[in-house]
Amino acid sequence: MTHLLIRRATPADTEDWLRMRLALWPHHSPQELLPEMETLLAERWSPVFVAARPSGGLGGFVEGGLRRYADGCDSSPVGYIEGWYVDEDLRRQGVGRALVAALERWAREQGCTKMASDTWLDNETSRAAHLALGYTESERLIHFCKPIAETGSTAANGRSLDELTALMDNFVRSKGWYAAESQRPQTPKNLAISLALESAEALEHFQWRETPADKNALAAELADISLYLLQLASISGVDLEQAVLDKLALNAAREWR
Ligand SMILES: CC(C)(COP(=O)(O)OP(=O)(O)OC[C@H]1O[C@@H](n2cnc3c(N)ncnc32)[C@H](O)[C@@H]1OP(=O)(O)O)[C@@H](O)C(=O)NCCC(=O)NCCS
Repeated sequence: MTHLLIRRATPADTEDWLRMRLALWPHHSPQELLPEMETLLAERWSPVFVAARPSGGLGGFVEGGLRRYADGCDSSPVGYIEGWYVDEDLRRQGVGRALVAALERWAREQGCTKMASDTWLDNETSRAAHLALGYTESERLIHFCKPIAETGSTAANGRSLDELTALMDNFVRSKGWYAAESQRPQTPKNLAISLALESAEALEHFQWRETPADKNALAAELADISLYLLQLASISGVDLEQAVLDKLALNAAREWR
């Protein structure tokens, strides 16, 4: 293991890192994974460590972050292993352990006293490796999913933020705007700019008047703002619902002078 260097990922690692991400998450396409990778690299709270081969190229990665809460942990925030992968030719040589150690060091520096992680019920290798690294099994979860879309209807009534985000995400994907060569790169910066532009367009409805002349036109602007907001939050890894609740709680305790 001494011949592999564990370091933070850089944009120059994208190709090899993507190769390994596709091996770990084979049901995803490069078009889906690449925008997320850009966000991870840009974000201070989502460190990515890679194992660099002396001959060039990478041999493993770990992606992590902070979660407010994690099942089985009683402290907050908690360092979290979001993705962990080592190339087959390098397994069982301590590379995975060194990657996780780097992430744990980072989490400790952020004030965490606990780390958490998860894996599929049938991933025995991952389970054994987690246990070998000192992680104890806390809970076993079963995730459920049920499609509840009203076919032929576009009514948004009663839909959660997650559902609206998924609808918006599907639309953007169907247009090909998540593709690497897209003329409308869906980066956080571009989305933030679009959000500000749409907000200005909403303001236009109030120019020289107290109430909008066309309520439907204003509704369309507000919808655009909402869609950009949902997408910006989603692509930046922000739990918008939680952020809103946190802000409301903060405001409730705040003095307004
Ligand atoms: C899980 C994975 C990242 C481990 O990487 P690795 O480089 O082989 O891990 P290490 O060599 O550092 O091993 C760490 C510990 O886990 C144990 N371990 C690793 N693979 C194991 C296996 N197949 N069976 C039993 N124990 C295993 C090792 O014994 C080691 O403990 P030790 O140092 O006390 O011997 C790697 O197997 C992998 O990429 N698997 C496929 C992707 C995956 O499942 N990722 C996890 C998703 S949550």
